Amino acid sequence: MKVAEDVRRSRAGVRAIQTGRRLRGTAERRLAPEGSALDDAQRRLNPLQHYASKGIASVDGWLGHDVVLPLIELSKQQRRDSISGGAAEIGIHHGQLFILLALMTEGDERSVGIDLFEDQANNIDNSGLGSRDALEQNMARALVDRSRVDLIQGNSMDLTAAEIVSAAARPVRLFSVDGGHTPELTTNDLHLAEQSLAPGGIVILDDAFSPVWPGVIQGLITFLDEETALTPFGLIGNKTLLCDRSSAATYRSVLAKFEGHFIYREDSLFGANVTILQAPN
Ligand SMILES: C[S@@+](CC[C@H](N)C(=O)[O-])C[C@H]1O[C@@H](n2cnc3c(N)ncnc32)[C@H](O)[C@@H]1O
Repeated sequence: MKVAEDVRRSRAGVRAIQTGRRLRGTAERRLAPEGSALDDAQRRLNPLQHYASKGIASVDGWLGHDVVLPLIELSKQQRRDSISGGAAEIGIHHGQLFILLALMTEGDERSVGIDLFEDQANNIDNSGLGSRDALEQNMARALVDRSRVDLIQGNSMDLTAAEIVSAAARPVRLFSVDGGHTPELTTNDLHLAEQSLAPGGIVILDDAFSPVWPGVIQGLITFLDEETALTPFGLIGNKTLLCDRSSAATYRSVLAKFEGHFIYREDSLFGANVTILQAPN
């Protein structure tokens, strides 16, 4: 009964139930109480670590640890390989992933967040519920350097890669595609991501294997059937990861380090070798 009520309440509710891996209230209990002096010190000393282990649980969203931890390791690998360029996301909701991406940027790297925000009349499939206020509050609490963040309010269908690259000041190394989940929006947003990507950059596509959002896999297939230099290399939680062919083996070896911590498999997807990580249910 409870599930049926939640489903009626919102599409966001459907997504939460479908993924079943909300982070709220897990790590939180093991660390210093929210608002305590120790909690504050931990946040200031290492905002990324604090957010990944604790703060993320207080931001509404659908991320699991099987996404958060591998993304942090992939970002570190990019650093080791001297790949720079900042981050971008289409589809922010309240910023659960965007804040993680922003906290992984360093130096003069910038983060660009794109969402309809309060213009929800144009959210044609009701995927998520963007809120600039919630995002701003969550970014402030996580100590995101706001001077290195640009927010673009608009429909991704009306956006160009040049605008994203201009806002980011250069091509980006981490690009999350999590806006509208229709086939057309997915294909459009994947093209924007590819055209905005730095060499060695990673595209993080949401929900390609969710039965609730069949438009995403349809959009991905269309994208891969067209001319693209990107190839899938990983399936982590509810995210499909893509990069250029020359980077795929390196990134798969990073994901392989999580063998023994998550459900781990090697398989192929549309002819590409992929490493699969999933938190056990
Ligand atoms: C699934 S939510 C994003 C979740 C978010 N990535 C997170 O980590 O919590 C989808 C978001 O996409 C936005 N959106 C939907 N259609 C869009 C479009 N055509 N252009 C830009 N944003 C869109 C919605 O407003 C919503 O905030």
